Amino acid sequence: MLMAKDEDGNIFTDDDIFANVFSIMLAGKDAVALTLSWTINLITENPEVQESIQQEVDTVLENKQLEYSDLAKLKYIEVVLQESMRLKAIALMISVQANNEVEVMNLSFPKDTIFLMLSRADSYKDEYFSNASEFNPQRWLDQSANTEQQHCPMRSLPYGGGARFCSGSVLSMMEMKAVIAMICKKYILKKDPSATAVHEEYAFLMQPSGFKISIEKR
Ligand code: HEM
Repeated sequence: MLMAKDEDGNIFTDDDIFANVFSIMLAGKDAVALTLSWTINLITENPEVQESIQQEVDTVLENKQLEYSDLAKLKYIEVVLQESMRLKAIALMISVQANNEVEVMNLSFPKDTIFLMLSRADSYKDEYFSNASEFNPQRWLDQSANTEQQHCPMRSLPYGGGARFCSGSVLSMMEMKAVIAMICKKYILKKDPSATAVHEEYAFLMQPSGFKISIEKR
């Protein structure tokens, strides 16, 4: 960005660079940390999912350290994260502003109208995901099979959509797969006996409150 110029030779101003670095740092850190927290919470609530993760990690990693080339092989962890983000999208509301007058569902809106979109509005609907409120990572693997199950991936938009789609989606998936694989390779995650129910708390991003786990060596 420091060196880049547009077609007319204009460079990025210091303000542009500050704003971009700030959004990458803000968007990049908390979003990943909170998605990992929700995922770990769901793993502790679903021991059979944790066992499947451990089987995958043991097969892919055997006794070696995780390497970049292993990430593509961690298919099950990937769908665990997709399923976790379907149910616990941390960016619940995404705002967009109309560049021009637009028509949405037969209603006309003037230029500059601000819309608030709910990123998981459809995630909990059975018409798009069978038994939608159930945490079932397998549904993402069964989608190519000829099943009667409802599965509409485009109805789950944890990374937003369109021109402002999250530019860190691929990086964050890599980071989260690596973290889950490294934790589950060595440890068993359990709900802490003193833990109370985990609640959704909305503070710009949606975070788990009351989240408490215990960790045992495998
Ligand atoms: C699980 C992790 C993450 C989630 C769930 C997430 C989610 C989102 C969402 C919902 C948006 C808004 C999209 C829209 O307005 O339509 C966004 C934008 C953005 N994200 Fe992420 N994000 C994650 C990780 C990251 C990481 C790791 C980075 C960078 C290192 C990053 C960088 C950005 C940037 C720069 C934007 C603004 C894009 C633009 O306005 O053009 N994100 N993210």
